[in-house]
Amino acid sequence: MRVLSGMQPSGDAHLGNYLGSIKPNIDLLGEDENLYMIADLHALTSVHDADELNRFRWDLAKDILACGFDPNKGILFFQSDIPYHTELSWILSCITPMGLLERAVSYKEKVEKGLSASAGLFTYPVLQAADILLYDTDIVPVGKDQKQHIEITRDIAQKINNQYAEGTLVVPDVRIRKDVAVIPGTDGQKMSKSYGNTIPLFADESVIKKAIMGITTDSKSVEEPKNPEECIVYQMHAPLLSDKEQKDLADQYKAGGLGYGDAKNKLLETFMDTFSSMRKKRDSLSDSDVKEILDSGSVSASSIAEVTMDRVKKAVGLR
Ligand code: ADP
Ligand code: TRP
Repeated sequence: MRVLSGMQPSGDAHLGNYLGSIKPNIDLLGEDENLYMIADLHALTSVHDADELNRFRWDLAKDILACGFDPNKGILFFQSDIPYHTELSWILSCITPMGLLERAVSYKEKVEKGLSASAGLFTYPVLQAADILLYDTDIVPVGKDQKQHIEITRDIAQKINNQYAEGTLVVPDVRIRKDVAVIPGTDGQKMSKSYGNTIPLFADESVIKKAIMGITTDSKSVEEPKNPEECIVYQMHAPLLSDKEQKDLADQYKAGGLGYGDAKNKLLETFMDTFSSMRKKRDSLSDSDVKEILDSGSVSASSIAEVTMDRVKKAVGLR
C-alpha cells in the first residue's frame, strides 16, 4: 500500500493539522510506503509574499520532522521540486468537467472568506488530484474537510481510465479517523490557519497558554455538571488522552465540580507534555539537515512520479 499526505505551508501548523494529517501519516510509517508532501504550489493560492511563503515551507518541513516523520521510513518532499505535478495537472484538467469543479465547496468557502478568486484557486482540486495520482497512491489520510477533494480525485482517475486505458491511474481511498475528523478551534468552528482560532504546535508556551485560556465556553458554574461532548476544551483534549484518561476526564465533567479554568489548565498541561519532546527535537534540527532530507526526498519522489507520467503520456497519446 502507498500512503500520501499533503499540507499547505500557509501558516503555523496547529493541533488540527497534527491530529488530522501529520499523526495519521506518521502512525502508518514502516507498515506502508509513505510520502508526505509540502503543498507549496497550492499555498501560492493564498500566500502572496515570497519571503513569507519560503519561511512557511521550511518551517513546515521542520514541524513534520519534529512530530516524528522518519525520513528513513518515508519520503518528505516539496511539491514544487517535482515539475510533474503541474504537467499531470494540465492533462487531468483537460478531461475534468467544469461542473465537477463548480460543485467544490472549498473554492466557494475560500472566496467568501476573502481569498482572491484566481484561476489557480478554482483548479486547486485538479492539482491535488495530480499530487495523489502521480504516486499511484492507495490511501490518503486527511481530516474531513478534504473528503470532497479526494472524491474529485477518484472521479478524475476513473475518467482517465475509462477514456483512455484501464489501469492508467490508481483510484485512491480516503482515510478519515472518526475521533479526529474535525478538531474544533478556540471559537468552536473547525480549527484552521485561516480562521485565527488555532492552537499552534510549536509557538512559545505563553502563546499556547493564551490560545487555550481564550477557548470559548458556556457560562456554567464550577459546580454544575457538564456534558463533555459539548465542550470545545474537552473535544481538543480527548484525542491527546488514552481511553481510560478520556473516560476519567469525561466523568469529572459529568460529576460537576470541574470549572472551565481548571479544564483549560489540564489541557495546557497535557498539550505541553505531549509536544515537549517534539519541541526539543524541533530546536535540534539544523537547516542543513532539513535541506538534505528534502533534497533526497525530491529525488525519491521524482523517480516514482516519472514512471506514472510516462504511463499517462503514452495513454493519452503524448508518446
Ligand atoms: P488549514 O485549514 O489550517 O489551512 P490545511 O487545509 O492546510 O489546514 O490542512 C492540512 C491537513 O490538516 C489536511 O489533511 C486537513 O484535513 C487537516 N486538518 C486541518 N484542520 C483540521 C481540523 N480542524 N481537524 C482535523 N484535521 C484538520
Ligand atoms: N488541499 C490540502 C489541504 O488544504 C493539501 C493538499 C494538497 C493535499 N495536495 C494534497 C492533501 C494531496 C492530501 C493529498 O489540506
